[in-house]
Amino acid sequence: MSAFDTATMAAGQQWNAQDYAIDAGFVPLLGGAVSRLLDPRTGERILDLGCGDGVLSTELALSGARIHGVDASPELVNAARARGVDAQVMDGHALTFNAEFDAVFSNAALHWMGNPDRVLEGVRRALRPGGRFVAEFGGHGNVATIIAAVQAARVAHGHGASAFQWYFPTADAYADRLRQHGFQVQLIETTPRPTALPTGVAGWLRVFAAPLLDDLPAAARATVREAAVALLDDLPRDAAGQPLADYVRLRVLARRR
Ligand code: BEZ
Repeated sequence: MSAFDTATMAAGQQWNAQDYAIDAGFVPLLGGAVSRLLDPRTGERILDLGCGDGVLSTELALSGARIHGVDASPELVNAARARGVDAQVMDGHALTFNAEFDAVFSNAALHWMGNPDRVLEGVRRALRPGGRFVAEFGGHGNVATIIAAVQAARVAHGHGASAFQWYFPTADAYADRLRQHGFQVQLIETTPRPTALPTGVAGWLRVFAAPLLDDLPAAARATVREAAVALLDDLPRDAAGQPLADYVRLRVLARRR
């Protein structure tokens, strides 16, 4: 997960590989469905767009495909390299590849990239003709309950709502965009996926919520986070008592024409 545009980084999202592994280790673990959709093959060259700390890249490489990872976070690219992934720092809005890949793969990263047209231009250019683009990311309504709680907590404490928005399109809107960029859409679907948060709502906010809070001083950020955690105390829970976040996944398989 996780290639970020400069706007997002300016919005305060900094990644710490250790915190990420603890609070967001479930992200690559839940990448099974999109990995199966990719169906990587021996000898294929595959770009992992937003490879994060490389956990999923290493699993894809077990197929015998050659994986190249890119991520906008130097911290996470270092973590991926430490796992043996061939990875480099690159903004997903400014991919520099030319007809080099059999597939472009992306898990839980595209919602961080605020200009999807620039991303799709780069993905198309990176693919060989007929190459596939396989991705999963947040769809319309993703984590709406958590976002609403943070916004309500901000307003309750006199800060007003944050203007930040992740990119969570509907399937129809994203399919149109893919076609406009010269892709043939073979599969596109949205699926609710209630997701257990192993370190609770507090852990999720710690690792992901910076863009919604970065305009506030540190003390106000902590107050708003605590208020949001309290508002979300009644989230449904799994059998182990972990709160379930209202994730919605948008999954895509498209081919470069
Ligand atoms: C997601 O994977 O859906 C997600 C992660 C962090 C912030 C927003 C969405």
